[in-house]
Amino acid sequence: MDSSVLLADGPLLFERLEAQKSDALLNLIALCDADKRADKIDVGVGVYRDSDGSTPILRAVKRAERILWETQQTKAYLGSQGDSRFTELIRPIVFGEALAADERIVGLQTPGGCGALRLGADLVHRANPRARIFVGQPTWPNHGPLIECAGVETVPIPYYDPKRRLLLFDEMMDGLGKAEAGDLVLLHGCCHNPTGADLSADQWRAVADLVSRRGLVPYVDLAYQGLGNGLEADAEGTRLVVEAAEQALVAQSCDKNFGVYRERTGNLFVKAADRRTGQVVFGNLMTLARTMWSMPPDHGAACARIVLDTPELRADWEKQVQEMCARIRRLRARLAAYDERLAYVDGQNGMFSILPLSREQVLALREEKGIYMAESGRFNVVGLSDDNVDRFAAAVVEKMDG
Ligand code: LMR
Repeated sequence: MDSSVLLADGPLLFERLEAQKSDALLNLIALCDADKRADKIDVGVGVYRDSDGSTPILRAVKRAERILWETQQTKAYLGSQGDSRFTELIRPIVFGEALAADERIVGLQTPGGCGALRLGADLVHRANPRARIFVGQPTWPNHGPLIECAGVETVPIPYYDPKRRLLLFDEMMDGLGKAEAGDLVLLHGCCHNPTGADLSADQWRAVADLVSRRGLVPYVDLAYQGLGNGLEADAEGTRLVVEAAEQALVAQSCDKNFGVYRERTGNLFVKAADRRTGQVVFGNLMTLARTMWSMPPDHGAACARIVLDTPELRADWEKQVQEMCARIRRLRARLAAYDERLAYVDGQNGMFSILPLSREQVLALREEKGIYMAESGRFNVVGLSDDNVDRFAAAVVEKMDG
């Protein structure tokens, strides 16, 4: 058939699409999988690994899966809010008991932290298409595309200088000086991805003061709670800014602290100026979710709910989160002790830090030593095993020496 009959002004529908580059982080998983060297080191994508290199299903989650299998009577729809009890149980973990009782904060289950970030951006765009989100650089590579896909403009501001291994707090605050009331600021709640460089308590207080004085809206991405300095400590910054601001969003993920990565388990919480507006926000979140995924997947949330609702499993979950956190801290300390140029790694938090290496040096490490990290020099500290941490440090220091 003559294609001009189908589309008078150009090629066939799908021929209008541009070829896409595959996602760099996900691509790295495939590249590393394809490398057959037995001594390769995967410090690419952000998954927790035990000392033997495996990514375990958490003990409490495994037991919750059994309970779920034995007791679940139906898989009938739950609705766009997902598992409300799960959201109710996560709420005080994120906000602490006092703030969790604030009725201006509404929340619902989302498909992971990505789903929460996207839903929040859609809500922002629907509420005010002119609102902008100020994003410190560098940031997690998916932040920009997720937010911009919802039609929200992002404004880059400085955050960290990988070469000098320095958090650029004053520059960040200067950048926020250009934000107007109603603009948003994306903040990493803890374990900053990709840098591992978190704001200090004083810096969080300064940000809380700024957002409240200037009517800015914090948008907190809380994907690693528990893996920096513990569940409570890692939520302190988030609680400070949410309490100080009249309006706020928190995209929460259970991927890492429940180890349920592929189950896509998270929540979006939104604080509105008053309770009535909160209810309107919730209604909008429900209709937006309905147009995107209709309802979030259940399995991960149901397991996390069972864990949190069962005292024995909850205690074991908290213990295992502490164990994971301690392992990350140990690996950071070992790297720092290896060479003074790696000392900064011990002052940073969570899975990631950035090495001051050029793209060429990163690619050379991949080629020569089978070490897989993001081209930015971001590496997953806990991708290292007890056996290869020194070999990794030696290879990195060798490259730093040029
Ligand atoms: C990462 O940054 O490695 C993880 O958050 C994986 C992802 O979803 O990109």
